[in-house]
Amino acid sequence: MLDDAARALAGGGAVAFTGAGMSAEAGIPTFRDPGGVWERFDPDVYGTWEGLARASLERPDGVAAFLAELRRVFARARPTPGHHALARLEDDGLLDAVVTQNVDGLHQEAGSRRVVEIHGSFSRLVGLVCSHREEIGRQRFVEALDRAMTGLRSGFVSSLGAILPRCSIDGAPMRPDFVAFGEPPQAFEEADDLVRAARVLLVVGTSGEVFPAAELPERARAAGAVVVEVGRGETRVPADVRLDGDAGVILPALADAVPRDA
Ligand code: APR
Repeated sequence: MLDDAARALAGGGAVAFTGAGMSAEAGIPTFRDPGGVWERFDPDVYGTWEGLARASLERPDGVAAFLAELRRVFARARPTPGHHALARLEDDGLLDAVVTQNVDGLHQEAGSRRVVEIHGSFSRLVGLVCSHREEIGRQRFVEALDRAMTGLRSGFVSSLGAILPRCSIDGAPMRPDFVAFGEPPQAFEEADDLVRAARVLLVVGTSGEVFPAAELPERARAAGAVVVEVGRGETRVPADVRLDGDAGVILPALADAVPRDA
């Protein structure tokens, strides 16, 4: 199976499509595995901006616990061998881009240059009023979490503005630029163009449960791509070749096995 996938990738023209399983070995929990994020935190509250905003005022200690989990995993997360393997495939001209559902910025930190973040990024803030966007990087994101937690733990949050960073344009509060449930994805047209043009779509670590992102493998296939999936357990991804196991183990082996002289 790995040789089939390696042969498919030979010759270039591949695009990677990644989900939370890509970063599981970096210590960032996935969403739907046993013990995952949505098992421990209600997605209706913590997966929507309105839910988070309301909870910050009504039950600040619950939001503080959620932010503490975010800070714990994001402060220490580093790119895995899987992230580095995808960057290597791009360097070798075999991978054109990474379309990711992840907001952790680990693909860019591993050296991937063309990364399309369709669910936004925690390394970016967006103004709640003027929608101005600011790249802040991971360290400033962690510092913003610390400030928000301090406010939330004071027991009384008068307004969101009291715990959020301020926009440099209009002084209004800014929020992390992640795509919450019910919000449209970002750069989806670019992602769609990339997967439709791909000769191979290398799908890594996604359950294929969340739409419209989960439409991308089918769209790639309909446009003639071979879908190679790296993941663990059952998923809804329509794959032609399936490699079952950890991304951090399979992707480096796959990157080594792809013939460079094709
Ligand atoms: N290597 C490869 N795959 C893994 C690993 C690993 N080490 N660990 C877990 N997986 C698999 C899981 O078995 C599962 O199939 O990764 C997949 C993760 O699925 P989800 O937790 O549903 O995450 P994802 O598909 O990225 O969720 C999509 O849902 O909550 C929203 O916006 C959020 O972007 C997210 C979207």
